[in-house]
Amino acid sequence: MRFTGKRAVVTGAASGIGRATALRLAAEGATVLIGDIDDAGGAAVAAESDGRISFRHADVTDAAQIAALMNAAAAGGGIDLVVNNAGAGGAREGLAEIAPEDWDRTQALLLRSVALGMRYAAPLMSGRAGAAIVNISSVSAMGSGYAPVAYSTAKAGVLHLSRLAAADLAKHGIRVNAVVPGFIVTNIFTSAVGVPPAQVDTVKGMIAAGAAQAQPVARAGRPEDIAAAVTFLLSDEASFVTGTHLLVDGGMLVGTRPSWDPDAPGMMSALDAFR
Ligand code: NAI
Repeated sequence: MRFTGKRAVVTGAASGIGRATALRLAAEGATVLIGDIDDAGGAAVAAESDGRISFRHADVTDAAQIAALMNAAAAGGGIDLVVNNAGAGGAREGLAEIAPEDWDRTQALLLRSVALGMRYAAPLMSGRAGAAIVNISSVSAMGSGYAPVAYSTAKAGVLHLSRLAAADLAKHGIRVNAVVPGFIVTNIFTSAVGVPPAQVDTVKGMIAAGAAQAQPVARAGRPEDIAAAVTFLLSDEASFVTGTHLLVDGGMLVGTRPSWDPDAPGMMSALDAFR
């Protein structure tokens, strides 16, 4: 019960990582306001929570809706904890094809939303004991091959923004950190390519099977894995931790599969006959 009496906001919590985080915060005593564009999903998460979670429609690409979400969470008190999590795959085109408005739309969803989440939450968190923010980045911030370029660039921005915010908001007594998820089986992959609802569970099962092979830890990453890291960084156990990130990727960034799996064909296997 690390969050008894705390008031929290989680964006994008109708599904996946945000949902698991909101449920974990509520299970440990927090009162949580979740914001999402998925009204049915948001209401369903609220219904799972014994009244500790409430839902408000909030599109994080709209500054006024972010401000309204934060103000609603603070009504009758302040805000203690914020998780800027909402996201989607964004534009998939490469740099030689992407339209300017698609680039902007992706940055607004994944990077500007995080900046504005902090912008509107910070004055409502200022000076509250244990105030903390966690922003969700991605392994795609660390290199190519994990996600499209517009998404990956935005997630790299989230990492640096989180470091700068830790310094900028220190005078308000707010800690800021990022969590860097690896491959976590959620709806983000099926919604990015528009898998029809009737096929989502089947396709997610196939994705989970692949995800179990993607990194040294031989199982698929789960939303609860990320929720555990997020809630650690939000908790007073992390009261001396700010301006950094926690990588939760099952070891994915350790290296390519041949670097840790002796049975995988090496990238230089063409040379094997000559060794
Ligand atoms: P998800 O698709 O299960 O959940 C994302 C949620 O964000 C959904 O409920 C969706 O409705 C909401 N959302 C989308 N656009 C929104 C908007 N404009 N305003 C408000 N809410 C909006 O996906 P997941 O995986 O839980 O994603 C959560 C975060 O984790 C995202 O920022 C994502 O980029 C990040 N992430 C996910 C990884 C993965 O492997 N699943 C890896 C690295 C980062």
